[in-house]
Amino acid sequence: MTSRELRQSFLDFFAARGHRIVPSAPVIPHGDPTLLFTNAGMNQFKDVFLGIGKRDYTRCADTQKCIRVSGKHNDLEEVGYDTYHHTFFEMLGNWSFGDYYKKEAIGWSWELLTKVWNLPPERLHTTVYRTDDEAYNIWREYLPAERVHYFDEKDNFWEMGATGPCGPCSEIHFDRTPDLSGGPLVNAGTPEVIEIWNNVFIQYNRREDGTLEELAAKHVDTGMGFERICAVVQKKNSNYDTDVFAPVLEEIERISGRKYSPELTNSDGIAMRVMADHIRALSFAIADGALPGNEGRGYVLRRILRRAARYARNLGMREPSLYKLVAVLVQNMGDVFPEIERQQSLIERVIKAEEESFLQTLERGLERFEDISERLAQDEKNVVSGAEAFFLYDTCGFPLDLTELIAKERGLKVDSDKFTRLMNEQRERSRQARKTFSQEAELPVIEAETQFIGWDKLTADAKVLYVKDNNVILDKSPFYVEMGGQQADTGVITLGGNVYTVNDVRKSGSAIVHFCDSDVEPLLGDTAAAAVDAGRRWAIQRNHSATHILHEALRRVLGTHTQQAGSLVAPDHLRFDFSHFQKVTHEELAEIEAIVNEKIRERIPVITLDLPADEARKIPGVKMFFGDKYGDRVRVVIIDEKFSAEFCGGTHVGNSSDIGLLKITSESSIASGVRRIEAVTSAGVERYIADLHEVALRERETQAYLLEKIKRLEKDLAEYNVEKIAGSFTQWVADAPIVGGAKFVARQIEAVDGEQLKSLGDRLRNALGKSGVGILATVSEGKAQLVCVVTDDVTGKYQAGRIVGALAKELGGGGGGKPHLATAGGKDISKLAEVLSQAGKHLENKG
Ligand code: ALA
Repeated sequence: MTSRELRQSFLDFFAARGHRIVPSAPVIPHGDPTLLFTNAGMNQFKDVFLGIGKRDYTRCADTQKCIRVSGKHNDLEEVGYDTYHHTFFEMLGNWSFGDYYKKEAIGWSWELLTKVWNLPPERLHTTVYRTDDEAYNIWREYLPAERVHYFDEKDNFWEMGATGPCGPCSEIHFDRTPDLSGGPLVNAGTPEVIEIWNNVFIQYNRREDGTLEELAAKHVDTGMGFERICAVVQKKNSNYDTDVFAPVLEEIERISGRKYSPELTNSDGIAMRVMADHIRALSFAIADGALPGNEGRGYVLRRILRRAARYARNLGMREPSLYKLVAVLVQNMGDVFPEIERQQSLIERVIKAEEESFLQTLERGLERFEDISERLAQDEKNVVSGAEAFFLYDTCGFPLDLTELIAKERGLKVDSDKFTRLMNEQRERSRQARKTFSQEAELPVIEAETQFIGWDKLTADAKVLYVKDNNVILDKSPFYVEMGGQQADTGVITLGGNVYTVNDVRKSGSAIVHFCDSDVEPLLGDTAAAAVDAGRRWAIQRNHSATHILHEALRRVLGTHTQQAGSLVAPDHLRFDFSHFQKVTHEELAEIEAIVNEKIRERIPVITLDLPADEARKIPGVKMFFGDKYGDRVRVVIIDEKFSAEFCGGTHVGNSSDIGLLKITSESSIASGVRRIEAVTSAGVERYIADLHEVALRERETQAYLLEKIKRLEKDLAEYNVEKIAGSFTQWVADAPIVGGAKFVARQIEAVDGEQLKSLGDRLRNALGKSGVGILATVSEGKAQLVCVVTDDVTGKYQAGRIVGALAKELGGGGGGKPHLATAGGKDISKLAEVLSQAGKHLENKG
């Protein structure tokens, strides 16, 4: 059976038993701050187990993408060194929400494994929780006593994380030993007897204080490692020998030119397994919107990637190579998980860029490591100091676990405590550095509570609860405290006949503290009139609603990986940071802007709903941000239910048309993989246009001034040219031959205009003095221009008009004038030089 058939037969089996087949949740969980990555099929049903969420079915099944590299479930260290742990894997699961329980769950497990997939029953062992006689007895209907084992909390009490749903579980193990002697190897951590399926009977919630809370209903949560069951059904000893991994390993063989060895200790085999495994975790995480980075989830991905990159280098690959594996993954899994096909080019780009940047320091780090190990060997020591590990981290980009891995390969240890201390010191230093720039206010710690009424009111008459210096707390307030990027309101408080300007507001416990521009007279119990600066607030609201529309437009134009990374909503502009790996092009920006403005023109009412969090989460496409804490009830801001729905505590306009217009003013990069868009709306656009207009006007003035200046300079230059030409006349006359009894000057000169040509003619005539004929020719504005001058004493013999007329005729033109000075023009400039050189003939004839 192929892996594809196996996956399908699991789903078909449970569908036939009344289960709704649901899609896998993303590997990046939304709305659960206790998780970095989805680590089990049940994550998406946590709310149902806890009794705070509902589905319209009570049985379901799926294949869930899981990543186990952090928190309670972390298999990273094993990967590559064994044949059955993975950072990324698929978990086949079936669930009962207060519906069937142990008997059915166990019965169906047995049926599927032994009747549908025909696994030999004698190879199955099961385990149950030490007090779970109910499960034990059910299993005994199928298995002899020596193959049903009791285990304690460590193996048979499953918990999702430090908190959350949990309960006793019953695992099914497969015995691969040739002589069926695997009984004692159950839970011994060997591939000879491996766990294939876990049936958890969810009954409790682990609370933050560590105690167990009994749940209202009892549930079933099962999980079967898909890659493992493929290996078992396909009778392979290693998950990597199944058709799940074979295509990726073949590709690694192809690009590295080395052969895969299934031997557990073969270093090339380890490297190839790690690469084949890690590329799956990376690709699926990126497809679901995560990016490698320096913190949290991003850093986990970066660690995985650098680990894989180091192994690729062990295989002799010095150029980025991991990204080349994405295509084969897409080919083999793209039909089951279309998101990796959709995001293929993004995944490849992100991985390649990360590889390129790490490869710049990897070599240096490895050399440094050689030095360190040589020194340690000389000193007969075996612990890499925390300072060295920190140096590798800080300057060569080696995550601690990579340093530990390389150390382990050389039989060395790393002083990770010291490393962590150094790391914390560095963090503290940068925190301190940041702090000097922020003026942390000393907030009063009191029990006061302020009701925020600023969603729809901008003024309030409120009771004064507390006053100290310039701090005032009221029982209700329309002032919005900075949150989710929306800036705090400003305004005034009128109290006891005095008007105080409110510059800032902050939260202290449940109270809103108003910071006034001067000390406030403490009139406790009195009524104060609080009023928000309405114009400023409206401007902020326009920018806030515009941000929501912009966010969705970005997703539509650039793709669903564009997760919000930060946002600022100020009265005069908005700023939106988001994950995206390349510059947003001019065309894309224009398209984004067009979508936003279209939505503004559609006059869409902005609807704000106050909903229970689990209801709100069900709104299709609703945006929620990891890291935000959402209470039991959340506000959801909807701008066209098919367009934008977002968890948001901010204030908004009533209708999209209130925004007026949006103009994106800049797009830039603020960190690797994070772009920033800045924009203005409404009056901001007006200001923006006015500024542009101002600039255009100034440019026009500058242009006129420059044109004028150019004209002047051209004139000066022409005059200079004329003088330069006239300066040669004495010489020309001295050099002039006598033709037909007259001194004859015929010269082509630089371009001059008609007037200048005439005046040069006059000056040439003067220079000739007596018995002279002169011709000057120039090419100006694409035409030949001629002037002919004759000194007064010989005008009886030579007429300038005639000479020039004859010449012009030869140039395809005409002209004439007085006997002593005449001008003419002709189009045929190519003949000019020749006509000029032959001009003497018009005099000779007269001679
Ligand atoms: N939630 C259980 C597990 O992950 C099925 O093993």
